[in-house]
Amino acid sequence: EVWNPNGKYRVISTKPMPGTRWINLLIEQDCRVEICTEKKTILSVEDIISLIGNKCDGVIGQLTEDWGETLFAALSRAGGKAFSNMAVGYNNVDVNAANKYGVAVGNTPGVLTETTAELAASLSLAAARRIVEADEFMRAGLYDGWLPHLFVGNLLKGQTVGVIGAGRIGSAYARMMVEGFKMNLIYYDLYQSTRLEKFVTAYGEFLKSNGEQPVYWKRASSMDEVLREADVISLHPVLDKTTYHLINKESLATMKKEAILVNCSRGPVIDEVALVEHLKQNPMFRVGLDVFEDEPFMKPGLAEMKNAVIVPHIASASKWTREGMATLAALNVLGKIKGYPIWGDSNR
Ligand code: DGY
Repeated sequence: EVWNPNGKYRVISTKPMPGTRWINLLIEQDCRVEICTEKKTILSVEDIISLIGNKCDGVIGQLTEDWGETLFAALSRAGGKAFSNMAVGYNNVDVNAANKYGVAVGNTPGVLTETTAELAASLSLAAARRIVEADEFMRAGLYDGWLPHLFVGNLLKGQTVGVIGAGRIGSAYARMMVEGFKMNLIYYDLYQSTRLEKFVTAYGEFLKSNGEQPVYWKRASSMDEVLREADVISLHPVLDKTTYHLINKESLATMKKEAILVNCSRGPVIDEVALVEHLKQNPMFRVGLDVFEDEPFMKPGLAEMKNAVIVPHIASASKWTREGMATLAALNVLGKIKGYPIWGDSNR
């Protein structure tokens, strides 16, 4: 699909993206916008090389694509200056290779913070209250009357929520669980971020001034402390070499037998084979997963586990957010072509 065919700058989007604002922004600035409408979900490096062709000023790409040496070399040969990942995470992008070929990289932080945190909260609740299991039970026509033991789950109020990675999304999630469900909080963050600390301190003061019960919170000195103490644990780290299989056989064994583990970050943060085994051995342990180790696949056995709630990487999937991500992604590319600053984490 081509918009503004006579535009001076050729910008490619490897996927159709929600809304039209992003297209209009590019057109207004004299871009020819080419949107790949190829049916297959994941484009290969070869597919993208042929999209880039001989002249391309910038590309908006997706987290399913492998943006390494080969693609940045191809983009640079075609005169490209900018690549924007339509995602906040950019573990699919080799930023060093981009730098080597003089291509600026942008991502889309901010607009997806609350949406992603809301999905982590939804998965926490769905796991705690066994919503998916109960839904399947109803649809199967198995409900034959109220029973005291039917789908008994966990009350979140007064339990402890554990957050690993207290950046934008982890902090927003913690805020929702503390404020919304009056959970106690324990968190661990590698980057000494003070964002969450500021919130819980101010919230504690607010509760005190209203004569309400204070919420207990602490910043843990190790991840294990969170794993040992929390009832619901949500993972929000960046995926890199240090966080690959952060949750493995040993760390799973550290958690409470009835804990809930939620992951809306990146699949490889969890050793999924070890997780499946843990779910089998501990039927009261529950998990809420938005991401998987080898997307779009799941490790054998996961789909059969009743104590797992699984959704297809939809944490940022609200209309407002996805249009915002598309707009930011377009602005990133446009910024570089036009010489404005690029929005994103990778080049700060
Ligand atoms: C991201 O932005 O990194 C998510 O995984 C998709 O929104």
